[in-house]
Amino acid sequence: MDANQHATAAGARTDGAARPDGAHAGAIVHPSAIVDAGATLGAGTRVWHFAHVCGGARIGARCSLGQNVFVGNDVVIGDGVKIQNNVSVYDAVTLEDEVFCGPSMVFTNVYNPRAGIVRKDAYRRTLVRRGASIGANATIVCGVTVGRWAFVGAGAVVKADVPDFALVAGVPARQLGWISRFGERLPLPRSGDAEARCPHTGERYVLAGGTCTLLPDPAPDQP
Ligand SMILES: CC(C)(COP(=O)(O)OP(=O)(O)OC[C@H]1O[C@@H](n2cnc3c(N)ncnc32)[C@H](O)[C@@H]1OP(=O)(O)O)[C@@H](O)C(=O)NCCC(=O)NCCS
Repeated sequence: MDANQHATAAGARTDGAARPDGAHAGAIVHPSAIVDAGATLGAGTRVWHFAHVCGGARIGARCSLGQNVFVGNDVVIGDGVKIQNNVSVYDAVTLEDEVFCGPSMVFTNVYNPRAGIVRKDAYRRTLVRRGASIGANATIVCGVTVGRWAFVGAGAVVKADVPDFALVAGVPARQLGWISRFGERLPLPRSGDAEARCPHTGERYVLAGGTCTLLPDPAPDQP
């Protein structure tokens, strides 16, 4: 296959096995997926059945794009991102490293769409910061930032920025509390000043002025 051609089902293997795609050395593209010429896929990235990646997309290494995932042109996806089945990552969406997008969650890019009015110049950008998780069937209304290691519960509708390490859920999404990098609830109040450890890893978090921060590991004892 010409390196500048799509990795389309046409001429692809029919045994359903994933295969390395010549245009994206190091990535694995299922024969039923379409990766338009110009897209970049990092090493170890896997693109599963019936996915479509547009030519302007920039996708990092070790990502997984599940069945029926769509990635637009004006999209940047970092390393180690997992996008579950049936997710469309539309233009003006950026996903940093290690973001998790649950099955059938929804991004948007036009705030007030009308079929008869072109609003391609009015896209509102969405940024999902490093390590954040978005639960199944959640909807991110465009123009927001989901903070680092934040967690959006299944079915939530996010209309406002989500702070780093915040756990939000519901329609509209409200903050339930705080969550660690490991994905465990942190015993912290929603506001005020406090400290807590992740029950699983022991990592230390401090809440101050409405901001939750992961404290660096203490320096090892000097010999
Ligand atoms: C948010 C989540 C992680 C639960 O966190 P938790 O700390 O265990 O929360 P709890 O179950 O103790 O619930 C706390 C409260 O939030 C509510 N709640 C929890 N998840 C909710 C959700 N997704 N939407 C609305 N409310 C939710 C609970 O009903 C409970 O309310 P109450 O205090 O009035 O009884 C989980 O519900 C969730 O949504 N996980 C996402 C799963 C998913 O999408 N996976 C995708 C890969 S398959």
